[in-house]
Amino acid sequence: MDFNEKNLAVRLSGKRIGNNIRFFMEVESTNDILCGLARDGAPHGTVVIAECQTKGKGRLSRQWQSPAGCNIYASIVLKPAIESVYAPQITLMTGVVVAELLSEYCTGAVTLKWPNDVQIGGKKVCGILAEMRASAGGGVDFIVVGIGINVNMRGKNFDESIRDMATSLAEEVGHDISRLDLAVKLFAKFDDLYARLLNSGFSSIKDSWLSYCDMVGKQVRVIFKNDKDSGEVLGVDDFGALVISDKEGKIKRVIAGDASVVKE
Ligand code: BTN
Repeated sequence: MDFNEKNLAVRLSGKRIGNNIRFFMEVESTNDILCGLARDGAPHGTVVIAECQTKGKGRLSRQWQSPAGCNIYASIVLKPAIESVYAPQITLMTGVVVAELLSEYCTGAVTLKWPNDVQIGGKKVCGILAEMRASAGGGVDFIVVGIGINVNMRGKNFDESIRDMATSLAEEVGHDISRLDLAVKLFAKFDDLYARLLNSGFSSIKDSWLSYCDMVGKQVRVIFKNDKDSGEVLGVDDFGALVISDKEGKIKRVIAGDASVVKE
């Protein structure tokens, strides 16, 4: 079994993302561990990876199924000098990172679903959960970006509640994939796109995100707690909101929720 701290440390040595790596056999949540380390001063680019999570966290207080021996559960801490309102750009950027990475294995089949599900053939293969500590002046103290990729998990092992909607890379390509290689490529690509975001701005990242998003131009329904919105998707804005046009043509920004296509 080559997916361990020693091999990851060797392959990530000297890299901006992952040079400082902590690998655990079992944690409640890699995001929680890394938020704690970040509060104690862990440097930018520190990564926490776990073989399994007992309380893997998903969006909107959901659980992220995190069994041992098959997937990647990773969190990365970032310390960007940006206003906290722009933090969602980093979450969208992470979606592009994973979409580009998985497209190397499944050309043309990877899509992004707002706010940030990565899908293959319309089934979810990766979830992203970013947690931020903002500073008093409106800047960002740190952002912990959590990435869960279903790599070698087999269909029958998904919880029944998500079995029809979830997939893994191995299910899609028909053979197991090295988690070590995939994780190393993930952090390298993350570093490239993060540098692009900081140096050249959000515009080209947004274009890439939209090129993977198969909701643009379609009618969607977005549900968040007791709120429902619907309309045609126009795109996303610089604050990560989904921009829709309702049936009266009124432009609306949706900042959170679950979006689903209602009409092709
Ligand atoms: C989603 O609901 O789509 C987001 C899922 C995010 C899961 C990852 S696994 C690594 C990191 N640690 C967590 O507890 N959650 C994220």
